[in-house]
Amino acid sequence: MSDVLYFNGRFTTTDERVVGVEDRGFQFGDAVYEVFKFLGKRPIFLIDHYRRMDRGLREIDISNPWSEGKFAATIGELLERTEFPDGIVYVQVTRGESERAHFYPPGMKPTALAYSRRFRFPDAARKERGIRVITAPDLRWKQCHVKSVNLLPNALAKKRAQKAGCDEALLVGEGIVREGASSNFFAVRGGKVITHPLDEHILPGVVRDRVIGLALGARIRVDERPLRETELFDLDESFITSTTMGVMPVAEIDGRVIGNSRGGEITTRLQGLFDALEQSEISQPSHPAP
Ligand code: PDD
Repeated sequence: MSDVLYFNGRFTTTDERVVGVEDRGFQFGDAVYEVFKFLGKRPIFLIDHYRRMDRGLREIDISNPWSEGKFAATIGELLERTEFPDGIVYVQVTRGESERAHFYPPGMKPTALAYSRRFRFPDAARKERGIRVITAPDLRWKQCHVKSVNLLPNALAKKRAQKAGCDEALLVGEGIVREGASSNFFAVRGGKVITHPLDEHILPGVVRDRVIGLALGARIRVDERPLRETELFDLDESFITSTTMGVMPVAEIDGRVIGNSRGGEITTRLQGLFDALEQSEISQPSHPAP
């Protein structure tokens, strides 16, 4: 599939083979990434994604190739060059290229890339129907707040879900439900929303953060606390959040139906509020260039 690609300061297409075999992103998974959505060629929550990437880069000692303004300008140009109005942008920054060795030399020049891609976001029927999930052991590294490209455990958990006829795997570590393999997890019990607190066990999801804000604004109580796996047996509602799925009801966990199987009252409310928030982003003035 040929898409517009930004690579280290120039625009090309994804047909061009640009990454070197000794790029540390390729050989060591020495890189972070972001995925954000655009609608009508307008990026959604761009600065939240930029800031998370910036924090991740700092944590793993890679210098950020973009200032906030330069990033917004690069993405603006990428979307201008893109032929379709809605989709996702994948961004990756690696430590760069050097002769393979665990020790990395000082002053490396990071590899920076971003490309846009069409994406079929869930339609109204799917958003009402929800998804089915399984639970799976959390086999990831201990710094899950960094959006690193080391996604092998996530990919294997997703495959396991797919083989079970499901869409997502809830990762469970030390008896605690952490998050989905590519989403954050929320439970609803007694009118209260419960989700894992921000720490090294989960990714600080951009949608998670917005949904918590929307819930609080709607006077829905939010409890950011670890949820025991055994509590999954006794939920009124549950949902996952992510850039590509938005707020998506969870209809079944390990074959057990949750609530009335469709999105419950609170989930549906938050889904509506979140969709409206995304739409309002499109009408915001764009971020100024530097
Ligand atoms: N995944 N947790 C994990 C492990 C994720 O990979 C993602 C996103 C999220 C949700 O984050 P956000 O709300 O910022 O999208 C939580 C992206 C979409 C992906 O890997 O494609």
